[in-house]
Amino acid sequence: MVFPKEFLWGGATAANQCEGAYDVNGRGLANVDVIPHGEDRLSVVTGEMKMLDFDANHYYPAKDGIDMFHRYKEDIKLFGEMGFKVYRLSIAWTRIFPQGDEEEPNEEGLKFYEDLFLECKKYGIEPLVTITHFDCPINLIKKYGGWRNRKMVDFYGKLCKTIFSRYKGLVKFWLTFNEINMLLHAPFMGAGIVFEDGEDKEQVKYEAAHHELVASALATKIAHEIDPENKVGCMLAAVMYYPYSSSPEDYFEAIKKDREGFFFIDVQARGTYPSYGLKKLERAGIHLPILDGDLELLKDNTVDFVSFSYYSTRVIGKNPEIFGESENIFSPVQNPMLPPADGWGAQVDPLGLRSTLNILYDRYQKPLFIVENGLGAPDKFEGDGATINDDYRIEYLSKHIQAMKDAIELDGVDLLGYTTWGCIDLVSAGSGQMSKRYGFIYVDKDDNGEGTLKRYKKKSFYWYKDVISTNGEKI
Ligand code: BG6
Repeated sequence: MVFPKEFLWGGATAANQCEGAYDVNGRGLANVDVIPHGEDRLSVVTGEMKMLDFDANHYYPAKDGIDMFHRYKEDIKLFGEMGFKVYRLSIAWTRIFPQGDEEEPNEEGLKFYEDLFLECKKYGIEPLVTITHFDCPINLIKKYGGWRNRKMVDFYGKLCKTIFSRYKGLVKFWLTFNEINMLLHAPFMGAGIVFEDGEDKEQVKYEAAHHELVASALATKIAHEIDPENKVGCMLAAVMYYPYSSSPEDYFEAIKKDREGFFFIDVQARGTYPSYGLKKLERAGIHLPILDGDLELLKDNTVDFVSFSYYSTRVIGKNPEIFGESENIFSPVQNPMLPPADGWGAQVDPLGLRSTLNILYDRYQKPLFIVENGLGAPDKFEGDGATINDDYRIEYLSKHIQAMKDAIELDGVDLLGYTTWGCIDLVSAGSGQMSKRYGFIYVDKDDNGEGTLKRYKKKSFYWYKDVISTNGEKI
């Protein structure tokens, strides 16, 4: 048997992509609520277009999500039926502190998650809780400018203290910030940042990055103080870059690209800012707002494990005819050595997962956790209107599980668990669509918000159940 007996198999979701009930039981408004579906989505997500409330011209899919707020018992029961050992979910900050800066938490919000965690326990499912999965109270954005402001560290610290105390004994696995490096590419989503005219965007992003890193170390400290059993992880959007050619220049470009994400994890897992990062910031004239005590806090409170999302890999190179003159946010160039991209631009690369596991394990020597992996695809019902034969998803997941197996068995990587992304269909973070489906469970809702919300088991549901019951022997 390759996978350890206690290996944590399961699935992952995020509050803003599934809960809905955006204004129920005193919940406050968050950045994630006001990100619209449609052509303005990217400008809002990147902080270029200011949208801090709903307007009549847009559709906001997070408002209702898949209504998991009201249906979590039914959904967790299905996770239990698949044999989940772990369920990764995020709490909505604005259910606990609706404004973010008030003195007392909202009891109804706290109770909601307590009940949800108890429901998980009923099926022997361990909750793995992301403290912030792209969400930030709107009030904190309006009043303080989001994570560009140091005060956010205190508000976040208070949230952490509240939930660690309340859920002591119920939750032991925590992630501080989902895909912390996405702050650089999606500043409104990752840090509640709306840019002001003429300001130095890179400076603002790295100020926010420092604040989130300090907040993450603080959370780790508080978690360990409140319960030494707590295990806290960081979370990287792992997008490994291959050099486009075997030229030394292209190889170095790939190193530089990978370091954009490692910059964050190096601090969280090793406790210091990496020298390549400090040099790069210095050259760009960017100043990190480091206060007395920050570096010690970072040093003394590194994470217990390193988690990451993995979907596919990318290529990068120096040739301006292929890659353009400017720095790409995400290289749109296809890797000629991989099968062509799907409709959403991802090229399937299971060996890339084994490489990523090896690179991260070599680099950090800490246990790893794959907390997102999956295939977004537009599933279709068979003629009976109830069956979905998602063999393409089974094939994708099976190849990635084989890559995990190889990394454990052949390379000796220490892997704690695996939670597939969107174990139940939910709203896509990138596109706001429902039709980009990842789930083992189909949810009847379309991109315009129409549908009965009824849940259906896909073919992959039964397949994953077998994977788990055989502890990854049968894939
Ligand atoms: C990760 C996020 O970036 O990828 C999730 O943590 C997101 O929130 C997932 O949903 C898949 O991306 P998308 O754009 O297909 O939803």
